[in-house]
Amino acid sequence: AAAQIGVTGLGVMGRNLARNFARHGYPTALHNRTTARTDAIMAEFGHEGTFVPSHTAQEFVASLERPRRLVIMVNAGAATDAVIEEFAPLLEPGDMIIDGGNAHFADTRRREAALRESGLHFVGMGVSGGEEGALNGPSIMPGGSAESYAALGPMLETISAKVDGVPCATHVGPDGAGHFVKMVHNGIEYADMQLIAEAYDLLRYAGGYSPAQIADIFRTWNSGRLDSYLIEITAEVLAHTDAKTGRPFVDVVADAAEQKGTGRWTVQIALDLGTPVSGIAEAVFARSLSGHGDLRAAARDLAGPSREAVADPDSFADKVEQALYASKIVSYAQGWNMIAAGSEEYGWDIDLGQMAVIWRGGCIIRAKFLDRIRSAYESNPQLPTLLADPDFAAEVTAAQNAWRDVVATAVGSGIPVPGFSAALAYYDALRADRLPAALIQGLRDFFGAHTYRRTDADGSYHTLWAEDRSEVSR
Ligand code: 6PG
Repeated sequence: AAAQIGVTGLGVMGRNLARNFARHGYPTALHNRTTARTDAIMAEFGHEGTFVPSHTAQEFVASLERPRRLVIMVNAGAATDAVIEEFAPLLEPGDMIIDGGNAHFADTRRREAALRESGLHFVGMGVSGGEEGALNGPSIMPGGSAESYAALGPMLETISAKVDGVPCATHVGPDGAGHFVKMVHNGIEYADMQLIAEAYDLLRYAGGYSPAQIADIFRTWNSGRLDSYLIEITAEVLAHTDAKTGRPFVDVVADAAEQKGTGRWTVQIALDLGTPVSGIAEAVFARSLSGHGDLRAAARDLAGPSREAVADPDSFADKVEQALYASKIVSYAQGWNMIAAGSEEYGWDIDLGQMAVIWRGGCIIRAKFLDRIRSAYESNPQLPTLLADPDFAAEVTAAQNAWRDVVATAVGSGIPVPGFSAALAYYDALRADRLPAALIQGLRDFFGAHTYRRTDADGSYHTLWAEDRSEVSR
């Protein structure tokens, strides 16, 4: 039997992706290192479509029509290299290996270059949407050659989520472009979740609301401009009661956030690219801080203000909505600038508006808001920052007083809001006439003769600080 696509690595994501292909009428080959899993999937889901199960790598490869499309869904890192080493020798020029894991884009670039030598296409494919998305329609971000997309893209567009009939899948760009944008997607996901968590904390401890009431507030927000998957599930989680204790679920979960690494990578790479993604960085650091039980225990008795509820909780909740929305615009602006910087650095030529199109549905950060980003880039493909889009600028302008009030209330009540305040600081820094960076330049020149530029003349200058303090041109 000739399968049109094959999936090896049948964990939950791999299995669901395979079922998604089969349910859309593509005969799908299945392979897993532990063959019992392949058999179990056949027994449980075999009726859903045409599956071609195999127990060996050779059988699996032989069951695929040419050019072969072989999707690997294993853990990022060494496991991915091991699977590539196992299968690459069995393939022929023109065949495609598609990595649907959360690989680091630098690994993807390395693998793509190596496999290209033997005439194979390597497609680093970002997939978002969790288990449910993989089965019913994820957002898909494939990189790799245009030739591989021609052979693979239509299938990906078929199984992806759709918004207004438009698939949430597109060719992002060559080699590691797909995994790069998936990484930034996850960084934005971290920032979104941090902002949501701060909004919850403020509503609870400055607004005086209970988790169940906050769930209702999020439900209301979800019917407005914040309409998104993460806001929707925030209401679900906050409304949930722990069966064992009868207490709000959020009160019995240990307050130490974990991470698998894509948010951290985003910040590491942003530092290399020189792109200020302060919202994402604060989100990664906030998770890391939450896990430092030792530091937190050592600091528990330090002084702070008493947490008093605000006088008008309803109007405060409205301001928190504005602060959350404005901060969200900032973190998306930062994320998009990072995609632009990566595209520039690696010559990927990524269509920035298209990233908003394919994130409107299927992925974890899916939101109504993404369509606004799409139209911002449609109006101006050269937009230097989302904050310069007239519509977003008007919204941030309208929100900025409330945003400042909320950050001030947080500071006054001793509630940490690193996401809200970093976003506000970014906003104020960008719009500043003059930044104190001038003083930093002066200090650098003083202690290290690092030179500075002047506002009124070209060239580099140095002041002879230890001598007569006259200025020389350098
Ligand atoms: C997605 C998610 C997913 C990610 C989880 C967990 O787009 O479907 O981003 O890829 O693995 O969100 O990430 P952390 O464990 O790092 O929070």
